[in-house]
Amino acid sequence: MVAESSAAAPVRLDVVEPARLDVAEQARLDFVLRLRQRWGDTLYPALVASARTADPEVAGRPVDEVAPVVHAQPQYPWFAWGERGVQKMMWRAITDVVRRQRLALPEPDDAPGSLELDPDLVPPAYYTEYDIHIQPGGLWDNEEAALVYEMGAKIVMMGGNDDYLFHDLLTRTATPAREPRRIVDLGCGFGKSTRPFARVYPQAEVIGVDLAAPVLRLAHAQAAAHGLPIRFVQADAAATPFQDGSVDLVTATMLIHEIPPADLAEVFSEIARILAPGGSVRILDFQPTGDGPRDLAMREHGARNNEPFMPMLFDTDIVGMCRERGLEARWVAFDERGEGRLDGLAWPERKEWHFPWAVLEAETVA
Ligand SMILES: C[S@@+](CC[C@H](N)C(=O)[O-])C[C@H]1O[C@@H](n2cnc3c(N)ncnc32)[C@H](O)[C@@H]1O
Repeated sequence: MVAESSAAAPVRLDVVEPARLDVAEQARLDFVLRLRQRWGDTLYPALVASARTADPEVAGRPVDEVAPVVHAQPQYPWFAWGERGVQKMMWRAITDVVRRQRLALPEPDDAPGSLELDPDLVPPAYYTEYDIHIQPGGLWDNEEAALVYEMGAKIVMMGGNDDYLFHDLLTRTATPAREPRRIVDLGCGFGKSTRPFARVYPQAEVIGVDLAAPVLRLAHAQAAAHGLPIRFVQADAAATPFQDGSVDLVTATMLIHEIPPADLAEVFSEIARILAPGGSVRILDFQPTGDGPRDLAMREHGARNNEPFMPMLFDTDIVGMCRERGLEARWVAFDERGEGRLDGLAWPERKEWHFPWAVLEAETVA
């Protein structure tokens, strides 16, 4: 994941209390985030406009025909390295803050939820062989990783998307008709996608699953700080400890584009196994839009931001994968700053760079 931006939105750094950032740290983070903002709201539209001048039909062309047109534009080198370079600068700046302040994972004394770590878990090779999002060491390597990742997640969606609005929008606008009694959030990270489900369904058992112990420890501490009784479990989404037919709602946010297709097929088999009859799936991720330059930027984002399976997700028939496993599925577009779930697969027009969010909705076939 990288920049979401809006010309009018102020940059807020409220993950760290302002008093705890010294002047140099504040200036450095503001600089990095302003660069990110300009990348999205100025450079991206300029690149697209230039490509459209060079080829007025470019928007309707397939991405392999769009690529040479976009790559030939004078803005392209700035755009391409801007995305990767700013992301690297952000992690470096945040890591320095975490280290200087000697931030450590909190250990809650009294938590309404629980944490089940599995010291014997061997993560799949695809998960450990590259640094996801270019974050040095990824999320699973050490305690610092969770703190750095959280701070990055907090500030990366500047302005209108602070406070994780899009997670709330998913739980409020894409909920299944049947009230779930047991909810599993696969790839829950530090729990920001899980907590809204615990708030919206206080009577339900809410469980977050992730491969990475550091983020789960942070998730547990943060759920405790919010007074939410969430159970966090360290497991592979393809091999969870839940019984057959025991879950009413399986959700996942920004997980499936991080998993290669063969492993993703196993994850959907697992989802089909644990879902109760009449159960539902709500997966928030990304889909191609049909707009050539935007889809090219999204595919190249996968390469530039170390998310190598992103283009594979776009080339995989997830609806068919679900159907083979007894799940009737559809993708619908998602407006992460406005309406949330939209009908159909069309997104509102916006000039600045923004992700093509989409919800995979599925139900078990009776
Ligand atoms: C982009 S993060 C999203 C975290 C969270 N859902 C959110 O929206 O903030 C993806 C998460 O999926 C986890 N993950 C990746 N592959 C996984 C797998 N096979 N099983 C369980 N978790 C996985 C990663 O450790 C990471 O925490």
